[in-house]
Amino acid sequence: MTKIGIEKLGFYIPRHYLALSTLAHRNGIDPAKFSRGIGQELIAVPSHDEDIVTLGAEAARPVIDACGTDGIDTVLFATETGIDQSKAAGIYVHGLLGLPANCRCVELKQACYSATAALQMACGHVARKPDRKVLIIASDVSRYDLDSPAEATQGAGAVAMLVSSDPKVLEIDPWTGLFTQDIMDFWRPNYRKTPLVDGKYSALRYLSTMGEAWNDYVSQGGRAYEDLAQFCYHLPFSRMAQKAHRQLALLNKTSVDNEKCLPGMEYNRVIGNCYAASLYLSLISMLENTAADLSGQPVGLFSYGSGAVAEFFSGVVQPGYRDHLMVAHHKALIDERVELSYEDYLTLWHAPDPQDGSAVENPVAARGRYRLAKIDEHKRHYIDAQ
Ligand code: CAA
Repeated sequence: MTKIGIEKLGFYIPRHYLALSTLAHRNGIDPAKFSRGIGQELIAVPSHDEDIVTLGAEAARPVIDACGTDGIDTVLFATETGIDQSKAAGIYVHGLLGLPANCRCVELKQACYSATAALQMACGHVARKPDRKVLIIASDVSRYDLDSPAEATQGAGAVAMLVSSDPKVLEIDPWTGLFTQDIMDFWRPNYRKTPLVDGKYSALRYLSTMGEAWNDYVSQGGRAYEDLAQFCYHLPFSRMAQKAHRQLALLNKTSVDNEKCLPGMEYNRVIGNCYAASLYLSLISMLENTAADLSGQPVGLFSYGSGAVAEFFSGVVQPGYRDHLMVAHHKALIDERVELSYEDYLTLWHAPDPQDGSAVENPVAARGRYRLAKIDEHKRHYIDAQ
């Protein structure tokens, strides 16, 4: 049978971050509530000229540079921070990256879950056409109301994954456990810039839907719990992984081994929630921060999108996978960032939406090659600074 899965993957994050200790200090909260209570230290904050398109293009650029564009006939853009009700954000990225014209581009939405739908659809497409490749971009900006409990769980970032019949990093297993239920735990009506969220209810539903998805995975003949070497979870905040991991151990009537979820939490802890990209940021974190060689080892992944859709699936880490990771690039993206004062954070949070054709003013210097230059006649203009 043809092997199908992830050939290459990488992430990109904004240059600026807010330390949650700054938020704690400003709000008179014990900083341990953030560092221990929700397991977050820093949250990424985009500049005014960064959006899901620029973040997505930056994440995809090194993937394309390494693998080329041959065979890519589909771009699936997963986001819940849509910039247009009609046009797919992936078309801008397709243009910025210079992808072949004989390619389809489409945007997928289901809260934080949609990149997993994209991954499964990509596997199906490659199974039918093994000489084709699918570029998946998951890109989101997580922004909640100021002074709300959810403010500390903001973040931003994008992950790009190339799916092909030459999965040098992770072969995706055929079993996948699914669960959908119509609930209102987190949603964003079209007229709002920030979501509405029933925070504690959402965390409970995350855990209960994971149980249902796991049971479905098992009923399809999926791998045994104890055979999974590492676990990656959707991470609205990094401590959610520990709660989920404990719940899964309970379901399987076994003791919790936190070592099997800690590597997947490291990057998210200093980046924050990036919705559709979060699970895949956790996957990169797990691959790049697990000291042991994972070659040939099966790993479990849990995807959750409020509203709600849950999916538990697995994959096998490929021999030689380390040669295809971009560890130094990713560590530099995290390490070479600039901390924001609370005042600068507020300026960035109140991002203007310039629709008069004027250039996008940037109160703090961004980094990266791709930028939103202006919105003129309601058309977004992006530049390639190289
Ligand atoms: N030291 C250490 N820990 C402390 C502390 C202190 N001084 N003070 C509080 N804590 C702990 C609390 O005990 C609590 O831990 P437990 O969950 O283990 O009980 C934790 O810090 C959080 O504190 P609160 O219970 O007081 O919760 P909160 O009011 O700060 O809200 C939240 C937390 C509900 C997650 C909120 O941030 C939120 O609404 N976030 C957005 C929604 C979200 O992320 N939901 C997750 C599931 S939905 C999903 O996954 C989709 C998605 O991406 C949005």
